[in-house]
Amino acid sequence: MAILETKHVTKNFGGLTALQDVSFALEKGEVMGLIGPNGAGKTTLINILSGAFHPSEGKVIYQGEDISRLKANLVNERGIARTFQVVRIFKRLTVLENVLTAMVDRGKDGPWRLVWGSFFRRACAFNQDRDACATADGLLASVGLLDYRDERAENLPYAMSKRLEIARALATRPKVLLLDEPSSGLNPAEQNEQIKIIRQINEQGISILIIEHVMKVIMDISHRLIVLHYGEKIAEGEPEAVYNDPLVVEAYLGGEGNA
Ligand SMILES: Nc1ncnc2c1ncn2[C@@H]1O[C@H](COP(=O)(O)OP(=O)(O)OP(=O)(O)O)[C@@H](O)[C@H]1O
Ligand SMILES: [Mg+2]
Repeated sequence: MAILETKHVTKNFGGLTALQDVSFALEKGEVMGLIGPNGAGKTTLINILSGAFHPSEGKVIYQGEDISRLKANLVNERGIARTFQVVRIFKRLTVLENVLTAMVDRGKDGPWRLVWGSFFRRACAFNQDRDACATADGLLASVGLLDYRDERAENLPYAMSKRLEIARALATRPKVLLLDEPSSGLNPAEQNEQIKIIRQINEQGISILIIEHVMKVIMDISHRLIVLHYGEKIAEGEPEAVYNDPLVVEAYLGGEGNA
């Protein structure tokens, strides 16, 4: 059964068509890999699925509901969370506070997060909100960040900041997680850790759409793959078959050579 799908989605930015008539379905419980050369429209698709942008044409359906026109925070409330290609954590807050604020502000940005940050720091320090603090600790443990709990986010090693982004997304209790290049910039050992973390999240029943240029990661982790090229879906199916599809090979070889 599909949990999240697009039907004939097109997205235009002025004269540029970033997505052209894209239909796909993320099945409940699956990990779907989304690949394609630079500029293919991958991030745009996540922006559309998460409500950051609305489609120019076509629909986004989540659990049978048309969410094409919902704002990002409402999409998040429904159960869809995302991470960003460029990490967007709150540098001045601690790791714990980053997760705690995500638990309450559900994708909303604003000055309140600093207030929430200091509120929660006190609440946890004085043990006033044990449930929230225990939940946050559980989330940090699930991405291997418990040792960094009280570090300021700006002091985190890069790989840990990528994990914190995932923890913040999980803090909104999603059913669907959209990951935009969670392994970019990681070394091979860190990539393997990231694979483990993502697999464990999926094993908890969360359906995942993952964009990734690191082929080892995407081939390891995906149940199925879809490929975008100049905004069009050119292939979909079993990872091995898609990887060897002549159209896909051509898209990468004919592109900027980032395969
Ligand atoms: N907000 C925007 N306004 C105008 N053009 C945009 C916008 N967002 C994306 N685009 C354009 O849409 C196309 C697809 O971009 P997108 O970021 O979705 O690609 P991508 O597949 O994620 O690429 P990469 O692998 O480099 O991250 C590009 O030509 C990009 O310049
Ligand atoms: Mg992108």
